[in-house]
Amino acid sequence: MVEQIVLPDTTDRAALYDALIPQMQALLAGERDLVAAMANFCAAVQQAFHWHWAGFYRVVGGQLVLGPFQGPVACSPIGHGKGVCGTAWARNEVITVPDVDAFPGHIACSSFSKSEIVVPLHGQSGAVAAVFDVDSDRLNDFGPADERGLYRLCQLIEPLLP
Ligand code: SME
Repeated sequence: MVEQIVLPDTTDRAALYDALIPQMQALLAGERDLVAAMANFCAAVQQAFHWHWAGFYRVVGGQLVLGPFQGPVACSPIGHGKGVCGTAWARNEVITVPDVDAFPGHIACSSFSKSEIVVPLHGQSGAVAAVFDVDSDRLNDFGPADERGLYRLCQLIEPLLP
């Protein structure tokens, strides 16, 4: 179990992900509880990136229900195909939104959110069982390094999903 996350003094996202991923692996090693893993995952991501909001929604009863997160209070539940999160679930793909105001149906939990990225996570059947959602207070804050890095990080949570 890692006690603290140590990161290089850089704003280079790819370098930050390269440093964070093995530490996240160590942090989650041996953790068998999904909520504990998701909670520490969000804390570690926020230590690295300090985004406006970062957290999970789980598929529960045909909806996305808020899970562990870091940031201001958030909307829940979210329907299939609704908002960025529900769309990432329905399409089963990573969705990057450079300007949330330009995304039809975006669900505004906070007026500070300007751009967003949502990564679907898969359960044991292979179906989407959760999404990881990150909101930035800056426009166009997410690019290919985040798509790759967050996807790799989320793969560390997938084995714990039902
Ligand atoms: N903006 C999201 C809703 C979740 S919050 O950002 C935490 C969406 O459109 O699905």
